[in-house]
Amino acid sequence: MNAFDKYIVTEHDVVIIGAGGAGLRAAIESSAQGAKTAVICKSLLGKAHTVMAEGGVAAAMGNVDDRDNWEVHFADTMRGGGYLNNATMVEHHAREAPARVRELEAWGAVFDRTKDGKILQRNFGGHRYPRLAHVGDRTGLEMIRTLQDHGIHQGIEVFMEMTVVSILTSGGKVAGVLGYDRERGRMRIWRTGSIVLATGGIGKAFRITSNSWEYTGDGQSLAYDAGAELMDMEFVQFHPTGMVWPPSVRGILVTEGVRGEGGVLRNNEGRRFMFDDIPELYRHQVAKDEEEGWRYVCGDKHAQRPPELLTRDHIARCINREIRAGRGSPHGGVYLDISWIKEKLPGAADHIKKKLPSMYHQFMQLAGVDITKEAMEVGPTTHYVMGGVRVDGDTQMSTLPGLFAAGEVAAGLHGANRLGGNSLSDLLVFGQRAGENAAKFSKTHRAAEIDPAQLEQDAARALEPFSRSDGENPYAIQHDLQGTMQDLVGIVRAQKEMELALEQIAALRKRAAKVGVQGHREFNPAWHTAVDLRCLLVVSEAIALSALERKESRGAQYREDFPTKSDECSKFNTVIRKAQDGSMQIERRERPATRPDHAAIIEKMK
Ligand code: FUM
Repeated sequence: MNAFDKYIVTEHDVVIIGAGGAGLRAAIESSAQGAKTAVICKSLLGKAHTVMAEGGVAAAMGNVDDRDNWEVHFADTMRGGGYLNNATMVEHHAREAPARVRELEAWGAVFDRTKDGKILQRNFGGHRYPRLAHVGDRTGLEMIRTLQDHGIHQGIEVFMEMTVVSILTSGGKVAGVLGYDRERGRMRIWRTGSIVLATGGIGKAFRITSNSWEYTGDGQSLAYDAGAELMDMEFVQFHPTGMVWPPSVRGILVTEGVRGEGGVLRNNEGRRFMFDDIPELYRHQVAKDEEEGWRYVCGDKHAQRPPELLTRDHIARCINREIRAGRGSPHGGVYLDISWIKEKLPGAADHIKKKLPSMYHQFMQLAGVDITKEAMEVGPTTHYVMGGVRVDGDTQMSTLPGLFAAGEVAAGLHGANRLGGNSLSDLLVFGQRAGENAAKFSKTHRAAEIDPAQLEQDAARALEPFSRSDGENPYAIQHDLQGTMQDLVGIVRAQKEMELALEQIAALRKRAAKVGVQGHREFNPAWHTAVDLRCLLVVSEAIALSALERKESRGAQYREDFPTKSDECSKFNTVIRKAQDGSMQIERRERPATRPDHAAIIEKMK
């Protein structure tokens, strides 16, 4: 019997892990380049966190305000990211997003339109002009539908409901992917020399999240184990508005589109508390009163934005402050009210239902709240990780040759904080780039030979929980880890708490080494949870370690022991790597000097 007999083996030029927007866009491109392309999905094709970017895709098309252009988008993204972004990626993104959106339209996406028939664009936090092309509040869903329809005709091979266990490497090169199908638990090998990670985020490391069960940091952890570097893992975005009630749906996203359409935030005293605290950097961009804010929402080019359209990090902290000060709503949030626009707009109820159909149904069906008549209760929810696999800004290749990453799993574009809507454009722009470069790479680099020892070791590790039927319960460990991250490495951070978090993560790792599952391999959710735990522990440790290393507050990271930005910290990105002895190492990696043309744009936009 040879080493591969126990496995189902297939061969591909390019293997894409993840089938959200980035994975699908990469697959379309790779396949268009003539590469034999496989897409591995953890879940069913089309079920992806992409659909949770509801309010729109950011692209400086200038359809609603012709002052917009790629340079403004570049400057907004850099400012939003606290200037820790990879400026090369920010430039590609700002320049290429409009073409990627138009291409999506040509493939069948049905965007909302302006009166003169152009793609309609709405306001979102941190974007200077109305920039988000949208389909009501279902933009991500429409994107996935379009990419799926288009992709399916490109001859892409799709493998659904698969868990990936490891990236197989040999001599510092990619050799393939090891995983199993969830239906039968059969081990599989996808042989390839070129992989695109497009697995999304890490939301399930926290208790309250907009992410569903799939988002356990798989791509970040697979890359880390394979020897690639992770960057800026401290930057986790807490979206200011998730549902807080009922408990079964806590964390589900309430799109920023609500605020883009005029929704306002109030505390239990009825006060619009966002007017109380406006950061210096944005003071010139914020309306002086409610009236001016409303004029901005209605498209008055001379008006400034309402404070509810400041960046997400700031709004989440303000909400947190109101709740902690006892000015929150009955279920531990604050009020988000779009119904008030009935004072301003005839036919407001129909307008709300047309612009925010999902929000209307979500609140009606899940909470019994009619958002055209009453305010919603909302609070921050873990939504997105800006950090991830460190990639080359032009090719999306990681530090491991042949391993590419695109979308949320990759770091660089968003720096310390992401602007809403920049995720959908990110996955289109860099999905395309990663697919193209992975396909090119596959033409000149053959897959390395699989190392039978690594194969045996990784497969045995995945199956180990079956040998301990009375071992630790995987759900209990996951639950405890989520508590640690939520309580000790959340919106407001401090050294002592994060040191405690690292101790607790180390203890949880010991428990995870004794995890056990019962039954057989067919559709065994406890087994899948046990496998996911390994990834969750890697990303949780990386987040806590990086957050400790960054002794400042910037973007999504707020440290109460270092409440301001530091010049010293503006000079580095945090980089995480696996050491020879298996321990996690952190390094401050000096940032490259800002290119003069980029510096000039930033200066001009100030
Ligand atoms: O609020 C939203 O619709 C989310 C958008 C995003 O995360 O980009």
